[in-house]
Amino acid sequence: MRIFIETMGCQMNKLDSELAAGALRAAGHEIVEDRRQADAVVYNTCSVRQHAEQKVLSRIGADAQRKESGKRLLVAVIGCMAQRMGESLRRKYPAVDVVCSPGRLFDLPELLARAAAGAGGVSLDPARPAGPGEDDIARMDDLDLARDVSAAAGQSQAFVRVMRGCDFFCSYCIVPFVRGPEHSRDPSHVVQEVGRLVQAGRSEITLLGQTVNSYHWAGSGRAVRFSDLLAAVSAVPGLRRLRFVTSHPTDFGDDILQAMRDLPNVCPYIHCPAQSGSDAVLTRMNRGYTRRQYDEFVDRARTIVPGVVLAGDFIVGFPGETQEDHQASADLIRRSGYKNSFIFKYSARPGTPAAKKYADDIPQAVKARRNNELLAVQEEAGLAHHRQYVGKTVDVLVEGPSASAKKTARRKHESSSSPNPPIHASATGVSAAAPAAVQLMGRTTGDHIVVFDGLATLSGRYVNVQITDATSLTLLGCL
Ligand code: 5AD
Ligand code: SF4
Repeated sequence: MRIFIETMGCQMNKLDSELAAGALRAAGHEIVEDRRQADAVVYNTCSVRQHAEQKVLSRIGADAQRKESGKRLLVAVIGCMAQRMGESLRRKYPAVDVVCSPGRLFDLPELLARAAAGAGGVSLDPARPAGPGEDDIARMDDLDLARDVSAAAGQSQAFVRVMRGCDFFCSYCIVPFVRGPEHSRDPSHVVQEVGRLVQAGRSEITLLGQTVNSYHWAGSGRAVRFSDLLAAVSAVPGLRRLRFVTSHPTDFGDDILQAMRDLPNVCPYIHCPAQSGSDAVLTRMNRGYTRRQYDEFVDRARTIVPGVVLAGDFIVGFPGETQEDHQASADLIRRSGYKNSFIFKYSARPGTPAAKKYADDIPQAVKARRNNELLAVQEEAGLAHHRQYVGKTVDVLVEGPSASAKKTARRKHESSSSPNPPIHASATGVSAAAPAAVQLMGRTTGDHIVVFDGLATLSGRYVNVQITDATSLTLLGCL
């Protein structure tokens, strides 16, 4: 079958899609880039906010119409929405053939094969508190270990899962219900997977977990903390950069900060969402820390890890959020000096404690205004943060042509493949011109986006860029 996979949501989903694609290829299928060519579409879904789910439902609606008009097409829903809605997805949307939860991705090839034979199906994780059994966890671990590590040209980056699930139960969040109980992977498996990736040419590895710094493993007798895991992975020969996302403020001990300071390839970047700057809201969110404790964490991080770069997440319009609470969030952004923050409008998720306990009482217009206000505060903080780098030289991993360079290239391609080529087009098709510099983008160890001119062949390489200017989201410079 030709299969098209569309991925929504977080990096965990991106990794799951990569693993699903590998499993499907191993079962003899072809993964295609164009949904119109596909015999099957797989939606890897996100349930964190309602509009992410609506997007999937509208895709399914369009697929249903194509099926009704005679197109043979299989539709599979995987990811968080699959686990959240389960059987009801197939009942309510008969165009859906397969539903497969994030913890049972190993079932996907078999489910699609059965759907092709006319019998769709559903494979879900057991609900909490049980969650996936030891066998299922081992099968998921096998899927991680069996991944195809070969890199596309110019691809130096890879994600590696170190844990699954979440036990924090922030009151607004659906993740603990759809991704199940927290479970850390065997550190030797993580090191083995990173080793294979690095050997295959990936030199920047990002360790993934919903609350990655809560990682702990006691399987082999001696307790392994996240800082121990960082030390073990950072020792993989040839690994140039080691990152991790996302962190939770409560489990960020000095041992992790010291590991970041002392291990030369661990990047000085922490994405550590605060969600709110107000104690009253943090309590209702069940975040497990106070504003003062978060401020202390920021100060500790800045003291122990020189030049550490921080990024945050905020939710505006959580039930009962007053103007004062909102100002406290703005104040926290100013104080923390984030490189960037992701700011979300509260979206009540069915089944979460907040949706059960609190009315979604902040009007949409107020949520929108508060969202814009925090974005403006973050823009100022981001500009001040990025300006510190003007005049400095930074180490950049080149990702490839920038978004605007790609757009220009597409326009050029379209005009050169037009039926009426320009008069001066080469008659022989042979060009002797030297390769031209294009606008490239890459990232620093602190996860700053850097834009500069250079040859596209630098993709996947490390270069030094001197920073000449900055915006609230990017550094601009030259090689
Ligand atoms: N509404 C809005 N934002 C949410 N997030 C998680 N749950 C919700 C929700 N119900 C945000 C948090 C989290 C990020 C991944 O999504 O900020 O850090
Ligand atoms: Fe959701 Fe909180 Fe767990 Fe993050 S820590 S995944 S916000 S419950």
